[in-house]
Amino acid sequence: MVLLDGARLSKEIKEQIRHEAAQLKERRGITPTLSVILVGDDPASHTYVKMKERACKEVGFHSIVHTMPADITQNDIEETITSMNQDPNVDGILVQLPLPPHIDTTRILELIDPAKDVDGFHPYNFGRLVQGLETFAPCTPLGVMELLRAYGIDPKGLDACVVGASNIVGKPMAALLLNAFASVDVCHIYTKDLQSHTKRADLLVVGVGKPKLIGPEMVKEGAIVIDIGINRLPDGRLVGDVDFEGVSQKASYITPVPGGVGPMTIAMLLTNTIKAARKRRG
Ligand code: GUN
Repeated sequence: MVLLDGARLSKEIKEQIRHEAAQLKERRGITPTLSVILVGDDPASHTYVKMKERACKEVGFHSIVHTMPADITQNDIEETITSMNQDPNVDGILVQLPLPPHIDTTRILELIDPAKDVDGFHPYNFGRLVQGLETFAPCTPLGVMELLRAYGIDPKGLDACVVGASNIVGKPMAALLLNAFASVDVCHIYTKDLQSHTKRADLLVVGVGKPKLIGPEMVKEGAIVIDIGINRLPDGRLVGDVDFEGVSQKASYITPVPGGVGPMTIAMLLTNTIKAARKRRG
C-alpha cells in the first residue's frame, strides 16, 4: 500500500508557486491578490479561511479577508463582490461557503467575475469544465487529480466511483475524471446499494462528511482510495469518510486524513490564483 502524501506534494507545489510569484513581482511588479468574503462565525469556515490566508502569505501573495456578520444583507455582499470585480488589483475572489440560509448563494456565486473565480464555482466555469474546456476547476477535485498525476496514476480506462454529488466536490470530481477518460459512477444519499457501486471501483473517491462510511468490505482489493472527508470526532480527532485502518489493508494507494486531499485543496487555490493573475494581466 502506498500512502498518497498530499502534505508533502502541496509543500512542493507551494515552493514552486513562491518562486513563480517572486518572478512575477520582480519582472512585472505584480503581486497575485486573493480577496475573500467570510460571513458569520462558523468555526470551520474561520479555520479554513485562516489556512488560506496563511498559505497566501507563505508564497508571497496578497490576501484580503472581508469578515461580515451573519445578519449581513444580500445586497451588502453583492456590493462587495461588485467592487472586487472592478478592482484591477484583485486577481481572485473567494466566497467561503456555506453562507447563512437567508442569503441566495447561487446569485452570489453568479455575480463573481468568471475571470476571478478561483474556486471554479461560477456556472460559466463549471459548464466549461463539463465540456472539457480550459477553465478554473474547483480546488478540491483539482487537488485530487494533481495527487493522482504526481503518483503516476492515470484514470484512463479505470472504473471510478465518486461517492457524494455536491457542486463543490462530487460533481466537478466526476467531470474531471470523465475528462480524463475514466468510467464514472456517481453515488449519493439516494443510491440504493452503495456497496454494489463502491466494490466495483478501481478508483474510489469519497467526499460526503460521514466518518467510517466506507469500510473494507465495500472496497475492491487493490483499489485506489481517495478520502475527501474531514470530520471532527467528539474526542477532537480529525478523520475522513473512510475507515483508514481497515481499508488501507486492501487498497493499493490511499490518502490519509489529515495530510491527504486537504493540503492539496489549498495548493490548488494558490495555483488558480496565480493562473488568474497571469491570464488577467496578460
Ligand atoms: N466550503 C467548503 N469547501 C469550500 C471551498 O473549497 N471553497 C469555498 N469557498 N468554500 C468552501
